[in-house]
Amino acid sequence: MNPKRERPSVLIPESVKGSSSFNLFDIFQGAETEMDFFDRLQETRQLLNTFDSSSDEANGVARAILASFPYTIDIARQASQNIESRAKYLSWELRHTLFSSKGSEIMLGYLSSQDIQEDESKFVLRNIIHTIGLPNLLNLCRELLTEYKKEGQDKKYQRLENILRNLLLLDSSKEVFRELGDLYDVIDFDKYPVTDKTIESRVNWLNSYLQENGVGREKSWKIVDVGCGTGDTVARLAESGYENIEGIDPVEKHIQTAQEKLQDGTEERFKVGDWKNLPYDDESLDVVMCMGRSLTHTEDWGELYRVFREFRRVLKKDGLLIIDMPDPNSPGYKEYMEYYAKLAVKLDLGASNPEYQWYIVDSPDEEHFYNRYTPEFEVIKKMLNMVGFSNAEIERVTVIPNEKGSQNWDITAVAVEIPANLQMIDSLKRGEQFVKKENIK
Ligand SMILES: C[S@@+](CC[C@H](N)C(=O)[O-])C[C@H]1O[C@@H](n2cnc3c(N)ncnc32)[C@H](O)[C@@H]1O
Repeated sequence: MNPKRERPSVLIPESVKGSSSFNLFDIFQGAETEMDFFDRLQETRQLLNTFDSSSDEANGVARAILASFPYTIDIARQASQNIESRAKYLSWELRHTLFSSKGSEIMLGYLSSQDIQEDESKFVLRNIIHTIGLPNLLNLCRELLTEYKKEGQDKKYQRLENILRNLLLLDSSKEVFRELGDLYDVIDFDKYPVTDKTIESRVNWLNSYLQENGVGREKSWKIVDVGCGTGDTVARLAESGYENIEGIDPVEKHIQTAQEKLQDGTEERFKVGDWKNLPYDDESLDVVMCMGRSLTHTEDWGELYRVFREFRRVLKKDGLLIIDMPDPNSPGYKEYMEYYAKLAVKLDLGASNPEYQWYIVDSPDEEHFYNRYTPEFEVIKKMLNMVGFSNAEIERVTVIPNEKGSQNWDITAVAVEIPANLQMIDSLKRGEQFVKKENIK
């Protein structure tokens, strides 16, 4: 069991909250430990969300962010006790808070509302691209342009359009920004490299894992597969007797396919839903699983954090969360990221930069692209602790190469549960198909 962390009682000074004198320096000043810095990041994110991005106040916020950014980086350095790699990581998290979707919206509003020096707008755009990715930046711009047009804000419209035009001089004839649903409409999901063998191996592992953790097959045990895709995992677990299991996914086409595949007389096994807003009551589920690297579809640190918070909300106190993520530091995944980074450069997609190693532009077919966010384990663990999971265990497993033989990635199974008697290591030994195991400490 992890020791309970004491939270400082007041993080962001009251004088900063809700006032137009938003000042990053004040907020972060005095953060002496990484955890403290993390807490302030979290509150800053919440605070940013309270600003109406089209207001004058938001412009003040944007200016304050730009002005105090370097000082805040210094504070991050101190909070990391001068360990360079940790300092880098904290600064990275800082940027991911300030240039999160909401932060980006505020910044773009600022760039559109007055004539800004080119250096400054470049700085802002670069940070946005490296944080939420080019596709999301373009989506955001599209939304803002529509809004400006509707409201007849011609000057703002022109400025933003200019900024975009300059940005896109880079290219681009390729359309990189697609909604996730569009993406899954054009690719054949069954050709996606989650093969039968992978699913079989996962289901074997899940079966013994659930059993060992006392999760029963009877109706009273409720299990939900979030991001269930076309439903194979749910279908097989249901076949093996788990009565009360269902899957949700935001892509309607997946849900339809899943329903067609599974004709076991249970009509309500699948529904359309989003992990940011799960259609379940507080503390109503025994198990939430989210497998197949689905969580790499989150946009950034903030979104992943929100999703974890949502998982925590719907799980019972002693509920079980099972997720898997790729290890961004594994040789297999590094190779994969480098490949896409090069491809992105070749196609002038602009958003994949090996320097920002947790972000890649990925593509199932090298024609349609989207972002993937793959933080390090330690970040995942920290976030899980922050939302209230008291026991986050992480294991590294290597799944057998799939049938195509081309995707020998390291996959990380992360299991989280509340009681202290988690027997993850033992259960992994019994997952016959997972051939190699290494405990990450
Ligand atoms: C790589 S697929 C994995 C599907 C399935 N879990 C499997 O292993 O076969 C990723 C899934 O995440 C889903 N997903 C993406 N964004 C989501 C969201 N906001 N809420 C829930 N699921 C989401 C996608 O629709 C997709 O089905």
